Amino acid sequence: MMSSDQIPAENETRPTIYLKDYQPPAFRIERVDLDFDLQEEGTRVTCRMVLQKLAADQDDLVLDGDAGLKLLSITLDGQPVAADRLHRQDETLRIKAVPDHFTLETVVEIEPQKNDRLEGLYRSGGQFCTQCEAEGFRNITFFLDRPDVMSIYHVRITADKALYPVLLSNGNLVETGDLANGRHFALWHDPFQKPSYLFALVAGDLDCLKDHFTTRSGRDVSLNIYARAHDLPKCRHAMESLKRAMRWDEEVYGLEYDLSIFNIVAVSDFNMGAMENKSLNIFNTKYVLADPEISTDDDFDHVEGVIAHEYFHNWTGNRITCRDWFQLSLKEGLTVFRDQEYSSDQGSRAIKRIQDVRILRAHQFAEDDGPMAHPVRPESYMEINNFYTVTVYNKGAELIRMMHRILGADGFHRGMDIYVQRHDGQAVTCDDFVAAMEDANGADLSHFALWYSQAGTPHLDVREDWDDKTKIYSLYFKQYINPTPGQSTKAALHIPILMGLIGPNGGEMAARLIEGDADQTEKGWLLHVKEAEAVYRFTDLAAKPVPSLLRQFSAPVQLSSPVDDGQKHFLVRHDQDEFSRWEACQDLMIDAILKGVSAISLQKPMPDVSELIESCAALLKDADRDPAFTAEILTMPSEAYIGQKMTPVAVDAIHEAHQYLKKALADGLASQWRDLYARLANKGPYELTAEHKARRALRSVALLYLCFGGDSDPALKHYQTADNMTDRLAALRILSHSDDDDLRERIFADFYNRLAHEPLAIDKWFAMQALSLRPDCLDRVKSLLRHDAFSLRNPNRLRALVGSFAAGNQLRFHDISGEGYRFLGKIVGEVDRFNPQTAARLILPLSTHKRFDPERSAMMTSVLRGLAANKDLSRDVYEILTKSIS
Ligand code: PHE
Ligand code: ZN
Repeated sequence: MMSSDQIPAENETRPTIYLKDYQPPAFRIERVDLDFDLQEEGTRVTCRMVLQKLAADQDDLVLDGDAGLKLLSITLDGQPVAADRLHRQDETLRIKAVPDHFTLETVVEIEPQKNDRLEGLYRSGGQFCTQCEAEGFRNITFFLDRPDVMSIYHVRITADKALYPVLLSNGNLVETGDLANGRHFALWHDPFQKPSYLFALVAGDLDCLKDHFTTRSGRDVSLNIYARAHDLPKCRHAMESLKRAMRWDEEVYGLEYDLSIFNIVAVSDFNMGAMENKSLNIFNTKYVLADPEISTDDDFDHVEGVIAHEYFHNWTGNRITCRDWFQLSLKEGLTVFRDQEYSSDQGSRAIKRIQDVRILRAHQFAEDDGPMAHPVRPESYMEINNFYTVTVYNKGAELIRMMHRILGADGFHRGMDIYVQRHDGQAVTCDDFVAAMEDANGADLSHFALWYSQAGTPHLDVREDWDDKTKIYSLYFKQYINPTPGQSTKAALHIPILMGLIGPNGGEMAARLIEGDADQTEKGWLLHVKEAEAVYRFTDLAAKPVPSLLRQFSAPVQLSSPVDDGQKHFLVRHDQDEFSRWEACQDLMIDAILKGVSAISLQKPMPDVSELIESCAALLKDADRDPAFTAEILTMPSEAYIGQKMTPVAVDAIHEAHQYLKKALADGLASQWRDLYARLANKGPYELTAEHKARRALRSVALLYLCFGGDSDPALKHYQTADNMTDRLAALRILSHSDDDDLRERIFADFYNRLAHEPLAIDKWFAMQALSLRPDCLDRVKSLLRHDAFSLRNPNRLRALVGSFAAGNQLRFHDISGEGYRFLGKIVGEVDRFNPQTAARLILPLSTHKRFDPERSAMMTSVLRGLAANKDLSRDVYEILTKSIS
């Protein structure tokens, strides 16, 4: 099934690591004592560990340790280790001829004050903090820095008491005290064994929001969220979310928190979203602070989702962790599934599903279709940081979701119970997870498990047939997956398809299945397509049904369905599955835009979209029944998503056809938008209730169409009367495209002055300018690089300006001049010198060059080649470049 047609270029300093080469660790670390002496100019780390040899044939101990570690001393069982027994190479330290059981003590000096990689120990806003996943611990000290080496940690932190009154690490606080010279110390002990990637330390001058939670068995847990004093009131939503998540995990999974302290710290310089370190979660401020002044309704939901995600890791990730980094989806796919389900239970299940599918299609399908495509359980990597991907996370969650559907909720939870009982305290594999699901249900998931090893999004072509004489309705399925790097041939997968048959009156039709492998469920038929081709036949039908296929998006596939436009309009109105109603309407919009694109290239008249307008009119009439859903269904697919539907991507024609449909919907429903907008006006002050959120969402959509004709007044007024960020940003987004220079300047200046003291709001200010469709967008982005508030070193800021432009503004980034590409190349080259992890993410939009026309593609590759010429390139960026160019 596998071939090696595209193994990336490698060299000695950047070896490729393979799953097939996995070897269990040769030593166990029974206990580790860490001592941190934090100083302004360099930190001293003493690490004493008790080691036990596991592999009798191993004479030497090989520790991981970054080249930047300055080794001050090393003793073995109290005796200095002679220099000729030590060998340092690349990122390792070899100690020759060690005994079977011994204590090793190293003292190193590191420079967190100069650490801009934001991996290991670094400084953010005057405080010390750590980020160790995946391999950051080796920047702190010499260690067996791999997830299958778990040990018990005792941590002592010493620092200046005035500058760093708060000293935190994992587990329980054992002792504190004052020392000479205005210094103090804290001693922490974590009773649970853990891998080094879950270690954390924080020292700083932070305020704390306190609360507590009583677990169902009666344990009282003290909950603390640490942040700058100014931000403390913004932590309340996170705290409430945390308590809801703790309760939910008890109720749904029977999983309880296991210590009497749970700490969260907010830091403003962070490469990712947040980190689940044992009992000391460290969060990007973006995912912990929430306040109506600076956060949109979506931001509130994201905070709740990420708080839940990190908390859920305590069981799925920490108590049970990964054997090696190829198994990353073991904890991430499962935990994303858990946080998605949690959020569904807090709000609307259908809307949560629509939003998750949007993300999956926009990012994961694109990844599966490009040079970085990899299985949910990758077979190889050069830099593990590059594999924290939408494939491992979101497609991984889809795999769990499919198992949940195939086994049923009860079967799935039986499997989870066995998984936890069997593997608590262990470092395990994705296969172990699947085996627990099988054993709990007497099921055979060996075919299903191919989803873990096979990359690429399956295509599923469906044909139908109706025999009016026999009243037999047949569905023919054909699946195939295009080759991906390293996998030229693919096997058929087990694809679960939830579907229904809808009769002429719009109701669900009862039918009898006479051929095909399927179960009947409450939500419809669950088909199990397992072969390259499959046939299903239904009978006992009075008339030809309309099929509603792939309800709830029951599998991450690209479906091409036999449903025609007329039937789609019917489904928009009648399908009992809300996801499928949304899907039918999206399909109609995509179709209309694609027809527009081909009309433009053939210089033909633009398509007639009157039927689509009529369907949308019907949805608007019914808007009050579910305003949040109406907002989703009337939101057009993005230009980038249309781009995915064609090769080469017709950048400019897509934009034109997209605008055409938007204008048609704006004009065709003008009075409806006006009425709706007026009817949904704020009655009373802001509230964060589901009802208010839904109303704001639909009103923002109405505003968008209302202004689309070129009348900015409603947006201006919306902006000026806003008493919250959701409304303010909805208006700002519209005004960012305005060609009225004065108006735009005035509003952006107002926003800046109003919120200059709130970094997360200023990130939005940068992003809105980078997403503008105005022709001068890139000039503006370039001049913003020199703005006082801009810094390449803060990842949130960098992503807001440069990331939004490159990944979110298809029209301007892919401008035919190639300026956007060269701009991105230059920034990535600079950022790579100090923050490779974030640089490597930023470059990804250029890796899709094969999807563009020869002219653009040549300019994109030339930027990639230019970067690749740099000998000092990080392993992170190097891997993406070589895979993209080959
Ligand atoms: N493990 C974190 C999460 O998904 C993500 C992360 C990875 C954070 C690597 C930092 C570094 O919850
Ligand atoms: Zn996670």
